[in-house]
Amino acid sequence: MTETADHPDAYPPSAEFAAAANVDAGIYERAAQDREAFWAEQADHLHWHERWNQVLDWTDAPVAKWFVGGRLNIAYNCVDRHVLEGRGDKVALHWEGEPGDSRTITYSDLLAEVSRAANYLTELGLTAGDRVAIYMPMIPETIVAMLACARLGLPHSLVFAGFSPTALRQRIDDAEARLVITVDGQWRRGNPAPLKEAVDEALLAKGDVPSSVEHVLVVRRVGTEVEWTEGRDLWWHETVAQADPVHEAQAFDAEHPLFILYTSGTTGKPKGILHTSGGYLTQTSYTHRVVFDHKPETDVYWCTADVGWVTGHSYIVYGPLANGATQVLYEGTPNFPDEHRHWQIIEKYGVTIYYTAPTLVRTFMKWGRQIPDAHDLSTIRVLGSVGEPINPEAWRWYRDVIGSGTAPIVDTWWQTETGAIMISPLPGITATKPGAAMTPVPGVTAAVVDEEGKTVRRGETEANGYLVLDQPWPSMLRGIWGDMERYRATYWDRFREQGWYFAGDGAKLDVNGDLWVLGRVDDVMNISGHRISTAEVESALVGHSGVAEAAVVGASDETTGQGIVAFVILTADATDTGSAMVDELKAEVARAISPIARPREIHVVPELPKTRSGKIMRRLLRDVAEGRELGDTSTLVDPQVFEAIRAGRSD
Ligand code: WTA
Repeated sequence: MTETADHPDAYPPSAEFAAAANVDAGIYERAAQDREAFWAEQADHLHWHERWNQVLDWTDAPVAKWFVGGRLNIAYNCVDRHVLEGRGDKVALHWEGEPGDSRTITYSDLLAEVSRAANYLTELGLTAGDRVAIYMPMIPETIVAMLACARLGLPHSLVFAGFSPTALRQRIDDAEARLVITVDGQWRRGNPAPLKEAVDEALLAKGDVPSSVEHVLVVRRVGTEVEWTEGRDLWWHETVAQADPVHEAQAFDAEHPLFILYTSGTTGKPKGILHTSGGYLTQTSYTHRVVFDHKPETDVYWCTADVGWVTGHSYIVYGPLANGATQVLYEGTPNFPDEHRHWQIIEKYGVTIYYTAPTLVRTFMKWGRQIPDAHDLSTIRVLGSVGEPINPEAWRWYRDVIGSGTAPIVDTWWQTETGAIMISPLPGITATKPGAAMTPVPGVTAAVVDEEGKTVRRGETEANGYLVLDQPWPSMLRGIWGDMERYRATYWDRFREQGWYFAGDGAKLDVNGDLWVLGRVDDVMNISGHRISTAEVESALVGHSGVAEAAVVGASDETTGQGIVAFVILTADATDTGSAMVDELKAEVARAISPIARPREIHVVPELPKTRSGKIMRRLLRDVAEGRELGDTSTLVDPQVFEAIRAGRSD
């Protein structure tokens, strides 16, 4: 590695940053020497009603038990504790609504709100173990609802508010939720978009088949008229807001389920990833403290993720609140009313830690540096990235323009399944490299291996490998809701002999042994940091009567990382075969899944490339979608098929 003044390959922290950092370099060795003692030390940052008697029980692998015998309450740790320790007046949330309204919520306020909600959910007859679906935008009540569920031991299942009624119903059914919490509507670029209506539609989606839902609890956000089902629907302001603001938290077992969060797999059916309590809170709070170098007294933290994704769960709700953070919560899009919005918010609240996704960084680059340059961003001292590999050009821009050329960037690799950050630089220690996630965080180990499970050699760029996690970690998933067989098959079968977790990502180690994550090696696409499976989009497409067969690939995209490209064969009775059909199909996918799954391109083709065993060769379709020369076509049944596909491409 060469270092030159204008293009250094590695960026060490400044001496001042390193000296003031929460942890020093010795932490890696301490963790490696005795991993369990290390994790016990991290768990001791939390309040336990009863301390555990065993750190890890791995005898039921691949289902781990962490902090066996320990009892705690997650909401007590995230809220009550701070108030009881005299920090009730500290701001928990600086909430910024899209239309420009704002609210300041202290830890005392949060305690009262969460207690009211817990009292009312109890009044509704919900008891520990019952599931609650939450279909809400970025407003404080969403966090209140999550914490109230956690307080009562009700596993919540957040469904991203951009998902369709069909997707919502699928998730409600799978978890058999008794309650849905939602809003009348959400603000989207100045317009109210209905959400309660989507819940109504979801609950009716299967005609006569009733759902498990008994009540729909509705927060009034936009003030539009909504249909009302007497007996089932309840207004938040008439119920929760009137409830008693005092509630005593009970302790739950460390392994009590905390939430289910659905994520795309390689089949059309989303997987309900199950997370539990003690280990999850230990690792989310620990990583939030060390990876962002978070200092609760002085930092103003902002994670721009939506609370409906895992990043929102772990780094807006549980990790930061367990650490008593003061944070920004923003309801809207980055360009409403204009592209200055994020920078205005940073200036207004003096944000010091900013955590976002590479796709947004690339969007900011496209809008131009004159926009952030018009603002004082000097308060920023740590920048974070998550969701996909960050390209070096975006990394450098992020550091120079948003981080004043000095803020360390933590490129954090993790997954819905891992629950918390696994691989990342530590900002006061690591000399970071643009585009590399670098090293597992202390307490975590990972390896890059080939098909046979042999460690790949450093610096061997040709022989990239698979990323595996070779030891259990506290915030690991405990299974797939209702389908433990799929849990084993998806993550543990690939390297069954070794007992490793297969992450589904490709990776390489450079000559220094630093780790670079290269992206998915399975049929999961990454669109603006959102995981969408090719199978899900394919099944939405063939759901249309005009489509006989569909194949979907993720093609590289300058802004969104990947874009969805579909190839479809139409049925004989498809009335339209041109651009109207393509538009209709795009709309159909958006309707069936979500606008985020809308294909960038759909090509109507006469045939799809298949192997002799009938498997669609996506690799070749990707070559076509990215305009490359075709790779090896020798295993195709009919190598001529591509001439037909190319001739028939209609953009
Ligand atoms: C990808 C988001 C490279 C990866 C927290 C992973 C990344 C998937 C990074 C999980 C990163 C996430 N560098 N790739 N820093 N972070 N990924 O479940 O492919 O929505 O498997 O969790 O995103 O996406 P998920």
